[in-house]
Amino acid sequence: MAPVTHPSPANQTDVHKARGRGAGLLLPLLALTSALVWWKGETWLRTLLLYLSRAPWARSIVTGFGPIWSMVKRFVAGESVDEALATAKQLQAEGMNVAVDYLGESVRDASEAGDARDQILLLIERIRPSGLDAYISVKLSQLGIKLDENLALENLRTILRSARNAGVRVRIDMEESALTEITLDIYRRLRDAEGYDNVGIVIQSYLFRSDVDVQQLIAEGAWVRLVKGAYKEPATVAYPAKKDTDAALLRQIEAMLSPQARAGGARVAVATHDDAIIDAVIAFAKRNGIQPSEFEFQMLHGVRRERQRSLAAQGWQMRVYLPYGTAWYPYFMRRLAERPANVWFILSTYFQA
Ligand code: FDA
Repeated sequence: MAPVTHPSPANQTDVHKARGRGAGLLLPLLALTSALVWWKGETWLRTLLLYLSRAPWARSIVTGFGPIWSMVKRFVAGESVDEALATAKQLQAEGMNVAVDYLGESVRDASEAGDARDQILLLIERIRPSGLDAYISVKLSQLGIKLDENLALENLRTILRSARNAGVRVRIDMEESALTEITLDIYRRLRDAEGYDNVGIVIQSYLFRSDVDVQQLIAEGAWVRLVKGAYKEPATVAYPAKKDTDAALLRQIEAMLSPQARAGGARVAVATHDDAIIDAVIAFAKRNGIQPSEFEFQMLHGVRRERQRSLAAQGWQMRVYLPYGTAWYPYFMRRLAERPANVWFILSTYFQA
């Protein structure tokens, strides 16, 4: 097996080259951010971080700040497939499975989308003999959906064919709401019309439409990951208040765990770090005689590691979402937005560096 090499599309970050640049700009940016947060509050910082996750100028400042890698490493397994699989083996030794994600999104041309597809094909080839219980997660923007829907469809079809031959499942991550409808269309076309039964989907509970989507997916016997949602969405499509998203997530989990949903073959991954929801799901499962084998918990690599281990030790299925690759910037910024306190950690790292 040839070693996996990374593509170097222009929109991806070569971490090694970038390290060392940008430190001079990051400090004023963080100082300005601190002042604005003190003035405007944390919700505002979350909005700013999500904006920065999409801003090319911010990408070059943040990725040019050398010490940032020590923070990124908490969320990203490494830059190579070897590092990802080594981490997966450690997690498996602790009783956890993985969903491996080759990082990348919003490619700029068909050749970048093809590079991403090829890297994912190599990942599948590496998973096959590894003995790991690992599936892969992909983003349609990584496969070219913003350029041409047929390009993304064809790239995903190639991945699904290879994954099916290797006995590997593939989950389509869900991105911003502008892509929800087309993502569901492509998922259904490949799964239902073309018979790829190794593909699953993600539903974001913060979207108003999701209760209906969940009911439809239950009727289809789908394999669904439920998440709260990580993008900045307008109040016309998503709940602005966290309590409404939390309630929707629990409502949708309970629907997917209903006897009728389970009997029809629907399977749910409960993807959250929220103790209140995890505890409610465990209580619901116990009350209704639902076995640990009938659903799984999922968490992100590097987030709430103790809870990951304790759930696995208690006999619940736990799968860790494990990203790797050089294009970590937008993924990392969304993780900061979920917990803005991490920004202060970066500031303190700067002063210690
Ligand atoms: P919430 O944000 O309320 O956090 C609960 C607690 O968890 C926090 O109080 C904190 O203690 C801890 N925590 C959460 N995030 C943290 C972080 N980044 N750093 C440190 N602590 C943190 N989204 C999406 O839009 N499309 C997708 O395809 C996916 N895929 C996906 C897969 C998996 C396996 C997970 C776990 C999550 C996703 N997400 C996602 C992200 C998801 O939408 C959501 O943004 C995060 O999971 C954070 O929400 P929580 O449910 O954890 O609750």
